[in-house]
Amino acid sequence: MKVAIGCDHIVTDIKNHIKEYLEKKGFEVVDCGTYDFKRTHYPIYGKRVAEKVVSGECDLGVVMCGTGVGITNAVQKIKGARCALVGDVCAARYAKEQLNCNVIGVGGRVSGVGMIEDIMDAYFGAEYHPTKENEALIEKIDGLIDRTDYIGDEHFFDEFLEKWDRGEYHD
Ligand code: RB5
Repeated sequence: MKVAIGCDHIVTDIKNHIKEYLEKKGFEVVDCGTYDFKRTHYPIYGKRVAEKVVSGECDLGVVMCGTGVGITNAVQKIKGARCALVGDVCAARYAKEQLNCNVIGVGGRVSGVGMIEDIMDAYFGAEYHPTKENEALIEKIDGLIDRTDYIGDEHFFDEFLEKWDRGEYHD
């Protein structure tokens, strides 16, 4: 599996560590930068990672900045990218299993290295569950990027509320 990884200058050392960690586990890792500690900005690297994944050049992506907030936000704006910022293994697993997130994000300054390693194991070890409901919901959320007609539409996601009543979702 080919994994794109990217970060800003705040967490380059942690990104390097996680790159090595993944390589030791047998992943091919494409390092999208940044490569040093010179001040730069996270959207550059979020965009790079997302593009590698969306284009199919890489299978999945990993992004990190100080909090993880900035870079995951940038990734999420790229069409076809589904990114989650996670701080624990439960959320990492959920991101893959239920939302088929193709990029996972962490805050290198707010999550410990051990936790980030565990998050990698949980995310890469999990499999997407392509149920009819998950597929429909992901498709609708992904499709938001191409439209604006949902603005002000309070009922845009109503079909998914009805699915609770039909027993198709479970807490
Ligand atoms: C530094 O640019 C810092 O703001 C960044 O690493 C990140 O924490 C943003 O979410």
